[in-house]
Amino acid sequence: MSVGKIEINGKVHEAPIIIGSEGEVALDISKLRAATGMITLDGGFKNTGSCTSSITYIDGANGVLRYRGYAIEELCEKSSFLEVSKLLVDGNLPNSSALSSFQDQIKKASSLPEGVKSIIKSFPKSAHPMGVLSSALAALSGHFEAKDYGNLSKADFDELIPTMMGAVKMIAAYNYRHNKGENFLDSKSDLDYCSDFINLMFGEVDKDIAEALDVLFILHADHEQNCSATAARVAGSAHANIFASMASGVNALWGPRHGGANQKVIEMLEMIEADGGDYQKYIEKAKDKSDPFRLMGFGHRVYKNFDPRAKIIKKYCETVLNKLGVKDPTLDIAKGLEEVALKDPYFVERKLYPNVDFYSGIIYRALGIPTNMFTVMFAIGRMPGWIAQWKELLGQGMAISRPRQVYTGETLRTYKDVESR
Ligand code: CMC
Repeated sequence: MSVGKIEINGKVHEAPIIIGSEGEVALDISKLRAATGMITLDGGFKNTGSCTSSITYIDGANGVLRYRGYAIEELCEKSSFLEVSKLLVDGNLPNSSALSSFQDQIKKASSLPEGVKSIIKSFPKSAHPMGVLSSALAALSGHFEAKDYGNLSKADFDELIPTMMGAVKMIAAYNYRHNKGENFLDSKSDLDYCSDFINLMFGEVDKDIAEALDVLFILHADHEQNCSATAARVAGSAHANIFASMASGVNALWGPRHGGANQKVIEMLEMIEADGGDYQKYIEKAKDKSDPFRLMGFGHRVYKNFDPRAKIIKKYCETVLNKLGVKDPTLDIAKGLEEVALKDPYFVERKLYPNVDFYSGIIYRALGIPTNMFTVMFAIGRMPGWIAQWKELLGQGMAISRPRQVYTGETLRTYKDVESR
């Protein structure tokens, strides 16, 4: 085993170097504090690995994304969302009988207790669907037997995983129906996952829409230690139940710097369109440090060349719009923005490229999904990834997540200081 050396005040601390299967290297500083009294400081975890993981591999410099070793491009072409979900949570592509029993389990889990339906109905129609999703997922915990989350059995995983996959689809569709003032429909056992979701929402199935969603969900299914996966892992590390852990993922995803960006992208494109379509003006705003405006759907913590998901989605966007016969002026604005930004030194120097959210909203809009549901679509796609991350964490017996800090507040003071004021 190779070691790295950290010299602090003349004392040398040796730390093991961990090498991943794709050659990624990390200095294991887990014993640093005990040996030296010092911690490391890395706000936003820009340079900190929180775990070892065998689920998803990203090479940000080269725009590579693989689930369990399979290239995202090949999975989008050859797999279904449920097959990819099983791959993520189990580690290997399922054979046909394992896939069909997974499908059956999800179908059995595709209904909601009356209490959870009532919770969805209790929300004002203006409520953001991500808040409803998070609340309903957490509420679902009350309808399942409490378990020892530090010692789950295979049977527990076999029950809980399809439960979450079924629940996220039902909650999203029922919230849509509630907002439209329409009655809730039952899941149909003869439909595949995406067709059932479309039917639950719209009361009819469109094969083209279901196929498009399937690819979008595969593209969103996992993305290693991103903000929401980390939130789900952190809650899971406390042995919070799966419902609470997945709701933590939903809440983190909601933010506009993360999954919430897909809603913000469409709102931005609509704003530029309403403002006459002058995208150069918005490029200048994004570059202006005194202006809080950022080009939504641009930039990524890990991808510094291109986001392979954005490449697939951009191509797919044109295909879907053509297939559905939709002409959307925001697509032209998005392409124009991209073209200008990719030549602009500000974006080039900072390695800012379109990310997964830049074009996905245009497809969702063409599919008839309301803008405030875009992030929920991301959450449905990401559910198997969160589950896989959570399951891996529990399997590794990971310690509770509990970072340290460097305190910069007042040193000890007493009431006497207040009295003498
Ligand atoms: N528009 C304008 N400037 C930007 C943008 C942007 N979209 N993104 C980053 N920058 C600039 C930023 O101002 C900084 O400039 P400087 O070095 O002069 O201070 C530099 O680029 C580095 O940015 P950062 O915020 O330090 O980078 P980060 O790794 O902390 O943040 C990000 C990554 C995705 C949060 C950020 O790029 C961003 O806010 N993008 C817009 C929101 C978005 O599209 N989010 C979806 C991400 S992909 C979906 C997902 O998986 O979550």
